[in-house]
Amino acid sequence: MVKAIVVHEFGGPEVLKWVDVEVGEPKDGEIRVKNKAIGLNFIDVYNRKGFYKSDLPFIPGREAVGVVTAVGPGLTGRRVGDMVAYAGNPMGSYAEEQILAANVVVPVPQSIDPIVAASIMLKGMTAQFLLRRCFKVEPGHTILVHAAAGGVGSLLCQWANALGATVIGTVSTEEKAAQAAEDGCHHVIIYTKEDFVASVEKITSGKGVNVVYDSVGKDTFKGSLQCLAQRGYMISFGQSSGLPDPVLLSDLAPKSLFLTRPALFHYNATRDELLESAGEVFACVNSGLLRVRVNHTYPLSEAARAHADLEARKTSGSVVLIP
Ligand SMILES: NC(=O)c1ccc[n+]([C@@H]2O[C@H](COP(=O)([O-])OP(=O)(O)OC[C@H]3O[C@@H](n4cnc5c(N)ncnc54)[C@H](OP(=O)(O)O)[C@@H]3O)[C@@H](O)[C@H]2O)c1
Repeated sequence: MVKAIVVHEFGGPEVLKWVDVEVGEPKDGEIRVKNKAIGLNFIDVYNRKGFYKSDLPFIPGREAVGVVTAVGPGLTGRRVGDMVAYAGNPMGSYAEEQILAANVVVPVPQSIDPIVAASIMLKGMTAQFLLRRCFKVEPGHTILVHAAAGGVGSLLCQWANALGATVIGTVSTEEKAAQAAEDGCHHVIIYTKEDFVASVEKITSGKGVNVVYDSVGKDTFKGSLQCLAQRGYMISFGQSSGLPDPVLLSDLAPKSLFLTRPALFHYNATRDELLESAGEVFACVNSGLLRVRVNHTYPLSEAARAHADLEARKTSGSVVLIP
């Protein structure tokens, strides 16, 4: 038996219960991992609420770093004692130990602390596919990043700045504005006080931005379209404030806009894509290009408090749960 957070009904943070669960032994192609650090991601909130449906009961969580404690029969390439990380599928990382398919994990370089690795796997690979593959950011581009002080937002800003873009970020508070500026935002807009559409128009002298990275959704989506330059890219990759209203094709026509709603799973669909993406993220941490902000840690048993703080916009940077 190990301890884990289990959800028996969809709902608020209070449905996250700290209970005993059976882990079992790894089968063919599987490993058993003792988790050292677990990344908290907004998708965990969607799963908990039932916004993204899953069968009940379930153990939430889609990112962890830990030590291999057992390998399935005949498995080669993984050994007991290896430090490994995974992000994405399967759900179930809010546990002291878990079984994983060996082909979903990547080795963690010795130079990277497990807590740092857990804070950057899912969010860093998200920044990687958004900036390098979904829309390729290049010197001379002007980009808009919403929730610029958030887990993904902080990494997007640092990386885009390093790629030579002019970065405009939106945040809710002065404190988050200071962090976003440190993370390479050339212009920071406090969207709870200013009209971000008017501010972007002023900053870009009416030209608009080449791409918007919008994870806020309902509250920002329409304004984001307005901020785009002709032939700009609208990348709607999340909905922290709720689902955006439906879009009409005719909304894209006046500026020949592109619209995409991408997911990390589809950009890390193969083992090669996973290794390349994780490798690039770890390399960026090692080179100092990405400064990881583990701004909050909570005991795993207090995952409910961590969820409440994330949803109340009280957190910035990455949040990590410690078993
Ligand atoms: N498509 C993908 O593959 C993918 C992968 C990873 C993450 N995501 C998405 O990226 C987003 C960021 O994820 P994260 O884990 O790094 O979280 P996060 O950005 O650290 O937290 C969410 C932030 O969104 C902002 N926000 C604005 N309105 C909000 C509201 N009504 N309720 C809560 N937050 C609100 C807040 O920043 P301010 O206080 O500054 O407004 C808040 O801190 C999420 O939407 C997530 O679903 C998508």
